[in-house]
Amino acid sequence: MTELSDRTAFITGGANGIGLGIAHAFARSGARLVLVDLDADALERAKAELSKQTDVFTAVLDVRDRDAYGRLADEAEARLGPVSILVNNAGVAGGAPSNRMTYELWDWGMGINLDGVINGVQTFLPRMLERGGGGHIVNTASAAGLFAGSGNTLYCTAKFAVVGMSESLSVELEPLGIGVSVLCPGPVATGIVARTRAFQPKVTRSMSGEQRSKAFARNEQAIQALANGVQPDLVGEMVRDAVEANRLFILTDRLVEEPIKVRTRALLKAMPSVT
Ligand SMILES: NC(=O)c1ccc[n+]([C@@H]2O[C@H](COP(=O)([O-])OP(=O)(O)OC[C@H]3O[C@@H](n4cnc5c(N)ncnc54)[C@H](O)[C@@H]3O)[C@@H](O)[C@H]2O)c1
Repeated sequence: MTELSDRTAFITGGANGIGLGIAHAFARSGARLVLVDLDADALERAKAELSKQTDVFTAVLDVRDRDAYGRLADEAEARLGPVSILVNNAGVAGGAPSNRMTYELWDWGMGINLDGVINGVQTFLPRMLERGGGGHIVNTASAAGLFAGSGNTLYCTAKFAVVGMSESLSVELEPLGIGVSVLCPGPVATGIVARTRAFQPKVTRSMSGEQRSKAFARNEQAIQALANGVQPDLVGEMVRDAVEANRLFILTDRLVEEPIKVRTRALLKAMPSVT
């Protein structure tokens, strides 16, 4: 059981959506909060709100920037004490069909959704281990890190990697007193699609008018699906409970039950028969 009260939690992508939901839940449990994000205005709003409940330090950080990450970790710990709860949550939803992917888009998507998680672990895990006293790492992957859909290769590649990394870290770190959880949400009611559309490197130049309107329709569908999803504050509570109980997997609904069964059956079927 990891108590959150009196610990310092570092949450990336903490200004909006799921990260902010996690911040709310952690604040209610008495954790001090470091929130980092690219969105300075949303960070200010989050700080004004959460400061009523706990000590909060916010800073603009691009999780891809390793040097800035290290400097900020020093500053955050000087202000709020040693970070023993790390939540690698910042992420984007973007991508394109494989025949229109570019290196720029690969680097952007993998840079935020995978390297951002690696950078968090590389920055804070040595500090946690050196100090002792336990700790917990939460990595936000996705249901798309557990089974693959169509037209989603960039996102699935990064999120499967985050699941694999988390499972592997869990085995290694458990005996050292550091818990690991991997959050694999289904649809959650956040603004990730619109935010991603605003920042994703453009790939639309090579699209015909028809392709462009199909892509637009897909985006609108995704926005609608998320609007009907689980509320971020509820996800935050699930994450808090999983950290306290030291649970590896956090799933937010049962939508992936059938695809996971299909995938597992296919894997079992692919094994050579016993002779
Ligand atoms: N919303 C969903 O349905 C859903 C489903 C599965 C997984 N996820 C994952 O949950 C995580 C949070 O997503 P969300 O839905 O809350 O999105 P969101 O857009 O509401 O919040 C993500 C936050 O990350 C920040 N961010 C983006 N790039 C960054 C960078 N390079 N450095 C620092 N901060 C950055 C954004 O500014 C934003 O505040 C992501 O990893 C996402 O892939 C979301």
